[in-house]
Amino acid sequence: MEQKRSSFSGKLGFVLAAAGSAVGLGNIWRFPYLAAKYGGGIFLLVYIILALTFGFALMTAEIAIGRKTGLSPIGAFRALDKRFTFVGYLGALVPMIILPYYSVIGGWVTKYLSVFITGAGNATVSDTYFSTFAGSTIEPLGWFFLYLALTATVVLLGVEKGIEKVSKVMMPVLIVLTLGISIYSLCQPGAIDGLLYYVTPNFSAFSVKTVLAAMGQLFYSMSIAMGILITYGSYMKKDVNLVSSVKQIELFDTGIAFLAGLMIVPAVFAFDPTKLEKAGPSLMFEILPKVFHSMSAGNLIGATFFLLVLFAALTSSISLMETVVSVCQDKFKWNRKISCLAVFAVAIVLGVPSSLGNGLWSNVKLLGMNFLDFFDFISNSVIMPIVALITSIFIGYVIKPKSIIEEVELSAKFKNKALFVTMIKYVAPVFIILILVSSVLNAFGIFKI
Ligand code: PHE
Repeated sequence: MEQKRSSFSGKLGFVLAAAGSAVGLGNIWRFPYLAAKYGGGIFLLVYIILALTFGFALMTAEIAIGRKTGLSPIGAFRALDKRFTFVGYLGALVPMIILPYYSVIGGWVTKYLSVFITGAGNATVSDTYFSTFAGSTIEPLGWFFLYLALTATVVLLGVEKGIEKVSKVMMPVLIVLTLGISIYSLCQPGAIDGLLYYVTPNFSAFSVKTVLAAMGQLFYSMSIAMGILITYGSYMKKDVNLVSSVKQIELFDTGIAFLAGLMIVPAVFAFDPTKLEKAGPSLMFEILPKVFHSMSAGNLIGATFFLLVLFAALTSSISLMETVVSVCQDKFKWNRKISCLAVFAVAIVLGVPSSLGNGLWSNVKLLGMNFLDFFDFISNSVIMPIVALITSIFIGYVIKPKSIIEEVELSAKFKNKALFVTMIKYVAPVFIILILVSSVLNAFGIFKI
């Protein structure tokens, strides 16, 4: 039976759907701790420069490939050039690696939501609360299963539209709440130093690592280099302005990441400056409770905050799972139910080590990292740059930038054409190769960056 490809009703629908996938834990949980860890202002600056050049070119390219072919990643690469079909597969591997550990963090968010809803938020203020919780065996596993099951149920029932509708209302509320919490934090003694740390670039803190971390974050946050945007592009109508959609998605995504950093980084200075040194995946869970604790109605604000974050996370994990499920349906000809179950099972197998890596299995190290950090590293710092590299070479030298430009110009004039061509043909490939080589050498301890 011929299946009709559904499409987004217009530009707003497209931008909101892509933003729903882009805005998630990457913005609220990951961005602030990376900014705190990698020198504050300098990280922010590098990130913004990359987003405007690199991110812009790659996002435009992926959406255009999707719209041009009207196919999902594997089919799209196959249709453009058979030899490049593997890039589609490689890209599809990324969400399968991210989904499990994303759900572990999603589980932590759900746990915090439950604690704040029951009015017990004060307990989370203690310095050992998070590490005791994340380091235990059964409880985090339970929250991880619950979060993953929630994601899988939505994907299985195909009710993401409902979730997306809710999240369209929740997202603006999240922005307002984040802004309110930032202003509150900024009024605390010591916070101004944090603000300065966050917005003033300190060039002496710059290193290859800053760029590496910023680039990995860019891919992750904007859902680039994993085929998701190709799929979204395939649903985009030809008359929708592609470039201005890309700019809006970028603005949205970067804006929310910036705000989340504004909420968390100055709060680190005000509430617990020792955390700056060891900023890592636990930062949000350790700092925000201190902020909420110092507020009146802290439980209510905390509960609202974690509920909104949960929705933002769900729209992202749904798009992660949906991508892998559709690849299974296409590739193995399994029906939706079987595909969902298979992806669910693999996600459990890969997610359990990430959950246990903070406690029971904390001694197991892969390239010096615990499981969660390892999966994060492999997807963001290795596979995604490889996919981005091959995609730029493919567009720059195989199908040529012209084919993308033509697609973009179906709807409107492509004003940043020159930037696009320079990025795709020269800057992106050279840059990614350098970054990739240094990151891999670094991971093996051959070259310290
Ligand atoms: N971009 C999402 C975030 O920032 C994560 C994500 C990655 C979602 C890849 C879908 C695909 O949280």
